[in-house]
Amino acid sequence: MKSDIPSGTQRLSTDTAGLSEAARLLRAGALVAFPTETVYGLGADARNDRAVAGVFEAKERPRFNPLIVHLPSWEAARTVARFNATADRLAAAFWPGPLTLVLPLVEEAGLSTLVTAGLGTVAIRVPAHPVAQALLTGFGGPVAAPSANTSGRISPTRAAHVLDGLSGRIAAVVDGGDCAVGLESTILGLVNDPVILRPGGIPAEAIEDCLGTPLATATPAGDRPDAPGQLASHYAPRARVLMNTRGTEDGAFRIGFGPGAEGADLNLSPTGDMVEAAANLFHFLRRADASGTATITVSPVPDRGLGRAINDRLRRAAAPRD
Ligand code: TXA
Ligand code: MG
Repeated sequence: MKSDIPSGTQRLSTDTAGLSEAARLLRAGALVAFPTETVYGLGADARNDRAVAGVFEAKERPRFNPLIVHLPSWEAARTVARFNATADRLAAAFWPGPLTLVLPLVEEAGLSTLVTAGLGTVAIRVPAHPVAQALLTGFGGPVAAPSANTSGRISPTRAAHVLDGLSGRIAAVVDGGDCAVGLESTILGLVNDPVILRPGGIPAEAIEDCLGTPLATATPAGDRPDAPGQLASHYAPRARVLMNTRGTEDGAFRIGFGPGAEGADLNLSPTGDMVEAAANLFHFLRRADASGTATITVSPVPDRGLGRAINDRLRRAAAPRD
């Protein structure tokens, strides 16, 4: 590491001094985790090959899995990706916010080929979180940022979660408190017909309403997605996860959902509110894991709206591991 990058992982505050240090570190090629409304991202200058390589290293992420590029505005996003009419419409409706668009790459933007895994397309997101906005504006360039967890583990929704997995491997984390959405962005492929590559913080129904057409959902990829979307086993706690569980399992840690789940160890939302459930999901999986249990059971969550993203993450958490 260069001498202007202190060793160890600093926890930075969201005041002017903290954010200008975070922007300085990004410019120096260091890795800085920061809050977004979905989850914490692990940021690197998207034009700096060494910095981006560092992201893959810190996360132990397979190189074929490309990264999302974060920008402060639609205007800035246009310098990196080629927008079509559908993309314009969605950006107008949902940005800033938890929607990522996969579009043809503008080669002249000078992104590291590691960011796009050499695909010729790029995933773009304009986050709404004021701290992410301030950092991206202060930095003044594209920031590649996957979720700030080691690959295959649960995404972080608090600065402490980031430090649990990445302390000592990254220069800093900007501590902006809890993430309000709690699930990653919805990823929409727009290179051909619109297709949901990953359900997330913007429900598919809202996108369908905006476009006036039903959307396709990408079929789940295997271990090496060619149209990168997702690996089957992901978001994995240490414990085994059983989803759609109605009864009880001996010794299991029970995560409930809704008014019917009295007696559960934790309830994603006692009133059955999906927004609350999404915000609690990753944090509760971590708490369940920390209890030392061998098995986590989760009540059924209705498969509509944000429930589709919640069930997607639970399916991956429950998937067989190597
Ligand atoms: O909410 C979020 O999206 C968070 C915050 C930090 O913004 N980020 C996030 O990044 O979840 P990550 O790296 O954990 O997930 C990025 C996903 C991966 O599944 C990757 O395969 C997909 O985006 N992706 C990236 N570029 C792509 C591309 N060009 N084509 C298809 N999928 C792409
Ligand atoms: Mg991730």
